[in-house]
Amino acid sequence: MFIDTHCHLEDENFSEDRAEVLERAKSAGVEKIINFGSTFQSSVAVSELAKNFSELYAGVGIHPEEIDDFDEKTCARLAALAAEKKIVAVGEIGLDYHWEKDSERRLIQQKIFIEQLDLARQMKLPVCVHDREAHGDTLKILQAEGKNLRGVLHCYSGSLETAREVWKLGWFIGVDGPLTFKNSAKLPEVVKAAPRDMILIETDAPYLAPVPYRGKRNEPAYVVEVAKKLAELRGETLEEVAAYTTANAKNLYEIF
Ligand code: NI
Repeated sequence: MFIDTHCHLEDENFSEDRAEVLERAKSAGVEKIINFGSTFQSSVAVSELAKNFSELYAGVGIHPEEIDDFDEKTCARLAALAAEKKIVAVGEIGLDYHWEKDSERRLIQQKIFIEQLDLARQMKLPVCVHDREAHGDTLKILQAEGKNLRGVLHCYSGSLETAREVWKLGWFIGVDGPLTFKNSAKLPEVVKAAPRDMILIETDAPYLAPVPYRGKRNEPAYVVEVAKKLAELRGETLEEVAAYTTANAKNLYEIF
């Protein structure tokens, strides 16, 4: 059994065939899937999906590329959503310096990230963090503002050195399709060094489909390709990878 710990099945890419996508996930052994919001509207949408499908869970939050969607009422509205059943996380939240080059807007991203970390603490929920080309500031914020919080750096793309700091905080790294790419850069070294109890697998579907589906629409069934690559790199069996990544996901998100 596998858990796809990060998805966006509310995305319009799935509006035609969502039920079939879920069926294929089940056939591939993917028994649970966690969808994450990026805006308030998509947070509502992933919450609704979790109500309608037993295998779906959800996280709610405002993505760093969507900060214009955040105002003084957003945290209270997210808190109301997060109080519902099957909402297992705050996310995805964080910093994106790839798309945001303006220093003032980066500061706003940081402020909104910190406010949502506070929300997670208040709701006693774990956090799913988006960190793109902002590894230094993300780590600094987690070290300073992450007290009594647990979570994951989803779609991890940092160095081994940063990963070691993340693990020291007791946080997980999330591994996605890029691990299977030829240009996977530092990621293979990171996953080889990762303690078993610090790794989650995810697809980030519809984005970042793993090889051999690279370039196509991604979907939860393909999380098995990420697990296979992990097994190959770490010298483990697929069954072992399935067992510990599933245990880690259940541990972090308290889904049973
Ligand atoms: Ni995502």
